[in-house]
Amino acid sequence: MMLELKHLKRLDDLFHAMEKANESFLGFPFAKGFDYEPLWRFMKFTGNNLGDPFEPGTYRVNSHAFECEVVEFFAQLFRAPSCDYWGYVTNGGTEGNIYGLYLGRELYPDAVTYFSRETHYSVSKGVRLLGLEHCVVASEPNGEISYQDLEQQATRSRYRPAVVVANIGTTMKEGKDDAAKIRTVLREVGVNDVYLHCDAALCGPYAPFLDPKPAFDFADGADSITLSGHKFLGAPMPCGVVLSRKQHVQRVVRAVDYIGSLDATLSGSRNAYTPIILWYVIRSLGIEGMKRTFLECEQLAAYAVDEFNARGVSAWRNPHALTLVFPPVGEGIKSEWQIATNDVSHLIVTPGITKCRIDGLIEAMTNRRERM
Ligand SMILES: Cc1ncc(COP(=O)(O)O)c(C=O)c1O
Repeated sequence: MMLELKHLKRLDDLFHAMEKANESFLGFPFAKGFDYEPLWRFMKFTGNNLGDPFEPGTYRVNSHAFECEVVEFFAQLFRAPSCDYWGYVTNGGTEGNIYGLYLGRELYPDAVTYFSRETHYSVSKGVRLLGLEHCVVASEPNGEISYQDLEQQATRSRYRPAVVVANIGTTMKEGKDDAAKIRTVLREVGVNDVYLHCDAALCGPYAPFLDPKPAFDFADGADSITLSGHKFLGAPMPCGVVLSRKQHVQRVVRAVDYIGSLDATLSGSRNAYTPIILWYVIRSLGIEGMKRTFLECEQLAAYAVDEFNARGVSAWRNPHALTLVFPPVGEGIKSEWQIATNDVSHLIVTPGITKCRIDGLIEAMTNRRERM
């Protein structure tokens, strides 16, 4: 392939613009500073993970074997029952959430779907797409679901099954819902048919190491769990993993002649590179590396809270959270540092975020405020 000079320049310009934007962002949970050069050689194939990674298929330019290892790794981490789980590498947390809602709907077609006000917009997208009757539950100031409101809302529909999305790290505040408590609340109001999906987009890879460990995994009562691969784990492109109990997946699986395989996934063609990237991350870090990386990020998050507060910006974080929450920043700071903002702003200390960048943001916030 040959490009004219003017087109080459466009590529250079784009590279420099993305490089510059990458240096300054602090308000999205994406990692920086990784190196995937050993994997570049795979880019010469049209890798496509069509169909079920655990089943043979006609097209073999795929990374199914690596995808299965990634799924197995997280299945163990999330205490999935050894013979009753299935999963695949998705395009990200959104696909995983829609998948969880889909499995929930197939199990309980006349369920009411419950999720808290702080839930990521992918869940509202999912309920719209799937035509689910739903109920938005209030949240506590720390971002966790209000169990009291859940109880009240579920009491009104106590003769209907429930599909619930629990947040294991809300988008803005990293609030964590307690999956076991959700099940208890529903049982106590008489709702016994419950499908529970845990959205662990950010926290999934480190939540198992926290003390106390949040109640969110299969042993805690989850039916499905999703995580994003391009957040804490540092994949350079959107991806994720979704896991579910196998019995739920068996309801949606179909044999497809065209691919010579089974299919229970949402997509048709599926990325073959992201499973290789996730495999590379988990094999190079291992459990100990993941724990160490989390602790480094957490130390920096603790430093950032202290520094913000010392400089007169009231900031806080949930226990063991990598997300700092502070009052909404103005347009200038929001745009320069790419700070996600709604009724609060936040900064997320993911791998590759440095003390120097955090100090720079604090400096900019406090100086500009002084000038106002
Ligand atoms: C809690 C939560 N769930 C789901 C998502 C969606 O994940 P993705 O962007 O990987 O689709 C996000 C993204 O920020 C999130 O914060």
